[in-house]
Amino acid sequence: MTRRFATHQKFTGGLAAVTASLALLVSGCGALTTSGEEAGDQADHTVEEGFHVGLLLPELQTARYEAFDRPFFEEALGELCPNCELSYANADQDVDEQQTQAQAMLTDGVDVLVLGAVDSQAAAGTVNEARSQGVPVVAYDRLAEGGADMYVSFDNHRVGQVQAQALLEALEQDGTTGEGQIVMINGSPTDPNAADFKAGAHEIFDGQVEIGQEFDTPDWSPDEANSQMEGAITSLGVDEIVGVYSANDGMASGIISALRSAGVSTDDLPPVTGQDAELHGIQRIISGEQYMTVYKAIRPEAEIAAAMAVSLATGEELEAGEYTLTDVEDANGEAVPSILLEPISVTEENIGDTVVSDGIYSIEEICTADYEDTDFCQEAL
Ligand code: GAL
Repeated sequence: MTRRFATHQKFTGGLAAVTASLALLVSGCGALTTSGEEAGDQADHTVEEGFHVGLLLPELQTARYEAFDRPFFEEALGELCPNCELSYANADQDVDEQQTQAQAMLTDGVDVLVLGAVDSQAAAGTVNEARSQGVPVVAYDRLAEGGADMYVSFDNHRVGQVQAQALLEALEQDGTTGEGQIVMINGSPTDPNAADFKAGAHEIFDGQVEIGQEFDTPDWSPDEANSQMEGAITSLGVDEIVGVYSANDGMASGIISALRSAGVSTDDLPPVTGQDAELHGIQRIISGEQYMTVYKAIRPEAEIAAAMAVSLATGEELEAGEYTLTDVEDANGEAVPSILLEPISVTEENIGDTVVSDGIYSIEEICTADYEDTDFCQEAL
């Protein structure tokens, strides 16, 4: 095992209950279905005896993976398969490290892999290796190439549309549509989701607003986004920039500091978008620094991934329940059975109805000393 293996555990019960909708996801009929057959010779495990699941997540920069994806997955798997064993690794954005981690898990005899790829193209090697050993792969959040067996994510094209629509609405409210230019700061070029976010956003922006400058940001790096924004400010002039499309919250923080360093006060900040509903993103929204974020409900995503892993390892049919099972074409044109969840746009108005009511953050967590005086906290506390 590599040093980043933080978890290697066997569930012994006593875990919190998973929602009823999930319990229905894996049917108890035991009949081999198409997905079971596709899963190859590993699809003969039972939840009674348990089996070994490997969870590989891509990075530590975005808070979601350690704070939500990992614990929610652990909880869901423990509920669906109390005798299953889970190995966990986070690649901290390092492609080679992820390959090493996956290899170590395969050597260790995992029966199914759940893979949040650092680089989906590079992940094809891991997927092929797993498949050649009869180990099925669930592509988690990002569609790894090489022929994943199942895939769970959000409608990533829609994420970009939601971000762009919100930004256009903000420009309209400010009366700045047609008055200046926007800057687009997209996500990592090795993350296929980033390409979807970008394409979705362009569909909404093109022809509606002038894009002064546009960047792709390796590794989703907030520091890189900060430098890119500084560059945009220098070449366009800070007063010309009426809005910034930032593909996620981490980069929004770098972008907002660049605007601040250029002397823009909170009241004069142009609307900036985001994604991931990070705590700091939500706090910037209530303090008026960031306009919106995109909330992706990670609990159902992780629960579905666990149900998919169980389905592939046992050959039991995956019942989508309230979700829609659809085919997504991967880079090789192969249809991957998938569930794509709906992203939600979050501005100050619906923080309470989304991240707070879903139990992601409490009012106390959001309204720390620095934010007590905001209208949101004044009303909520
Ligand atoms: C994407 C993922 C987002 C976020 C992003 C990095 O692939 O869908 O939720 O993690 O990477 O911020």
